[in-house]
Parts: sequence; C-alpha cells; structure tokens
Amino acid sequence: MTISSFKPGMHANGSSSEALAAGQDPLEGQFEVIRDLLYSIAGIRLTEAKRDLVRARLTRRLRKLGGGSVTGYVEFVQTPQGRSELTEMVDILTTNKTSFFREANHFDFLQRVLSERPASAGPPTIWSAGCSSGEEPYTLAMVLSHHGRLRRGSAGRILATDISDRVLAHAREGVYDREQVEPVPEDMRKVYLRKAKDPDQVEVSPALKEMIRFGRLNLMGDWPMSGPFDAIFCRNVMIYFDNPTRETLAQRFTELLTPGGYLFVGHSESLTSLKHGLRYVQPAVYRR
Ligand SMILES: C[S@@+](CC[C@H](N)C(=O)[O-])C[C@H]1O[C@@H](n2cnc3c(N)ncnc32)[C@H](O)[C@@H]1O
Repeated sequence: MTISSFKPGMHANGSSSEALAAGQDPLEGQFEVIRDLLYSIAGIRLTEAKRDLVRARLTRRLRKLGGGSVTGYVEFVQTPQGRSELTEMVDILTTNKTSFFREANHFDFLQRVLSERPASAGPPTIWSAGCSSGEEPYTLAMVLSHHGRLRRGSAGRILATDISDRVLAHAREGVYDREQVEPVPEDMRKVYLRKAKDPDQVEVSPALKEMIRFGRLNLMGDWPMSGPFDAIFCRNVMIYFDNPTRETLAQRFTELLTPGGYLFVGHSESLTSLKHGLRYVQPAVYRR
C-alpha cells in the first residue's frame, strides 16, 4: 500500500485519538470535505446522521495505520500518492449489509418469468449491480440453477459488480458463516454449499461460482460492458444516491436491458417521479 508516504502522526492537529481524549472532535471541519469527496466519487450522500459513523470508522482506520489526525488523512487521500487509500476510505464508509434470499419474492418472480422464456433464447444474462459480499448473485445462481434456468456450462451468465474491493474479495472466496446461510432452503444448501475448512463456515460450490463473473465497477463511472441483460438487480444501492443520480442510473440501466427485461430495486426504493424508459410492474420491479 502506498500509505507508507502518509505521515499522519506528524500533522499539527495531533492524532485523532488524542483529540478524542481531549474532548475535541477529530472530525472538526473535515466531515463536509469527506462528504463531498464521497459524493463526487461514489455518488453516495452522507447525511448529518452519519457523522458518528464516519468518526468511528476513520478513527479505527487511523489507529490501524499507526495514528494521525483526520485532517492529515483527508489531505493525504486527495494527493496522487493517496489514491489507493482514497479507495480504502470510500470502502470503509459504504454500507455493505446484505444477506442470502434478501427480499426473496424477487427471486421467485424472476424464476417465474424466465420459465416462460423459450429454450431457444438460451440462458439468461443477469447483472447484480452493487453485489456486496456475493449473497445476492449466489442466491440468483442457486435459484435459477435449481429451477433449470441456468445449467452447468452457463459460465459467467451473472455479472456481479461492486465499488469495494474488500467485499468483492469475500464474494469471490464464497465462504460464509453457517448462520449466514440459514435463509438458504435445505434442498439448495445440500447441492450448492459444502463444508469449508472452518467447521463453522460453508463454501459455495465451484459450479455455482463458475456462473458468476465478479468485477469492480463504480456505478458513477464508465460501464465497459455492452449487455444486454435480461434482468438487472440494483437493490439497496441507490438508496444512498440523490434523485438526479438515481434518474441517470435508471436511464443507463434501461439502455442495458433487453426489451422486456426487468430492473429490480430494493423494497424501500422507488423510481416514481424519475424519468426513465421503464414500466412499473409491482413494488420494486420495473420492466423495459
Ligand atoms: C447495502 S449493499 C446492497 C447489497 C445487495 N445488493 C443487497 O441488496 O443485499 C450496497 C452495496 O453498494 C455498493 N456501492 C455503493 N456505491 C457504489 C457505487 N458508486 N458503485 C458501485 N457499488 C456501489 C456498496 O459497496 C455496497 O456493497
């Protein structure tokens, strides 16, 4: 890591732990800078309510780096040498909460509509945009394989992307605690999950992993793939974006969907009042 050139402890403001101990706010004056950086890079809007979370996560990060002030850190991540630490900062400030079979009716819905697809159309192509640690694309792969919509040899039909390298590394590894896979139905667990080295964990089967192509992609940047996709899952990601950003994304997703393809968003999200070329089907499901 290029962090070797970062000497946060030498900053005039002292370390963030010292500031905390002296009753000062280590974030003083920096929250706004961090908020603007995160917005310009990842489109994520940090609300005032996130101040404590930002303070806690940056203080922990600085402790791991050997100390230093938040001010020094924020200056550093904006220098050319601080580029990879900037990626790290975005990573630690994003929310990666996810689970297997989250908002499960989406998977039933998709497998039902795919059952009407003629066999000659071949296996479907799906994009999990903002896939976090992999539970969403693995759920898709399990459900679609279980119902015969994806077969062995359907390698890479699911594209799964995220801005965070950390969650992508976890997703590629495909190892989860036993309690995390509890939502996976028993019959699917037997086929698609196997023992991991640690007896308290399980690993996704190689056949399932093969169906998914993981890659880093910032939704705010260029999208190198041309699609088209039969379905795009972008669930619980746009919730952190403002309306103009959501609208642009919804339009970009529309262009990448096959005519008749589906966009799934999180249940607490809505594209109502935004301009896009999609038709509302049911809560959190839209169709091109
Ligand atoms: C709360 S998780 C949702 C995971 C999964 N889709 C689900 O619903 O369970 C949101 C994910 O979006 C990712 N994310 C946030 N901003 C992003 C961006 N600009 N580009 C790509 N991914 C982003 C985060 O890293 C995080 O893993």
